[in-house]
Amino acid sequence: MIEITTDIHKAKMILKKDELVAIPTETVYGLAGNCFSETAINKIFETKKRPLFNPLIVHIHSEKILEDIAIEIPEKAKLLAKAFWPGSLTLVLKKNPKIPDSITAGKDTVAVRIPNHEMTIKLLKALDFPLVAPSANPFGSISPTSAQHVADYFSNELKMVLDGGNCINGIESTIIGFENNEPILYRLGSISSEEIEAVIGKLMILNHNENTPEAPGMLSRHYSPKTKIILVDNVIEQIEKNSNKKIGVISFKDTIYHHSLKSIEILSKEGNLKQATRNLYAAMHRLDKLGLDLIIAQRFPQNDLGKSINDRLHRAAKN
Ligand code: TXA
Ligand code: MG
Repeated sequence: MIEITTDIHKAKMILKKDELVAIPTETVYGLAGNCFSETAINKIFETKKRPLFNPLIVHIHSEKILEDIAIEIPEKAKLLAKAFWPGSLTLVLKKNPKIPDSITAGKDTVAVRIPNHEMTIKLLKALDFPLVAPSANPFGSISPTSAQHVADYFSNELKMVLDGGNCINGIESTIIGFENNEPILYRLGSISSEEIEAVIGKLMILNHNENTPEAPGMLSRHYSPKTKIILVDNVIEQIEKNSNKKIGVISFKDTIYHHSLKSIEILSKEGNLKQATRNLYAAMHRLDKLGLDLIIAQRFPQNDLGKSINDRLHRAAKN
């Protein structure tokens, strides 16, 4: 049975034995193991049922450790690290040969970030190895933003989840890679592309191909509830069309009344995109437990974090 606890020492002891612990970060909970242990790395892929071609993110507590992880760091990567670490930005950099190929799926690049969560920073400082951690959910499903979400997924598979409360940002980190030292956006996330461009100028967007996904977090179907979900501009029209079904709605700020509506999740009554982002996955987890036939999600404004929310809803809605 999984234990939900705040005991950092216990987490350290488990990790030192090449076992896994779910850890809090400001984005989503991670399924963490020793970055240099093949045993731990294998357990991560097995527990998540994650395909081996999908590489993992290395989590460190200080930029001083970066040189153990990556080499030939572009100037713009340094600027980004300075601006956003600790925080929700993952950099994909040329890997240090010390990093196991099993983490990077054989690529010569490695993904790395410093999470902005006090408990996890304390844990990382107590360990003499970094932690690799994908989001702590079975492959393809909604990422966990609370310790309970993790326990719901892995009650038998995991020994413990370190409880650091609800994740303050609520969706995964933004991922930036480099080609000829120029930045490329691999995954939209907790930090908007506008914020990134304010630091380093124009970002290219990865033109991804389904068959050779650079960042498989960009695979089309991902972040999905079990319940069918559609992403639409006009929620009322869709409720009318589906009024014979048990419907739940995800709305940005509007209250919507309709007799066939079983539940509505308003992500931010004040229309605040940061708050809506924080609430998105928790709302999806709640709706997914209601035995609904359909979740109708309202499309967000296509700017700032609205783009990241639309990205996740769009992928959740893919068949
Ligand atoms: O916020 C986050 O990033 C969370 C927390 C726990 O840190 N982690 C997370 O990990 O979302 P995961 O494994 O669910 O997503 C990592 C993404 C994957 O889409 C993976 O393909 C991409 O990062 N990635 C990792 N290494 C890469 C590399 N070398 N090149 C391109 N993409 C990479
Ligand atoms: Mg994930």
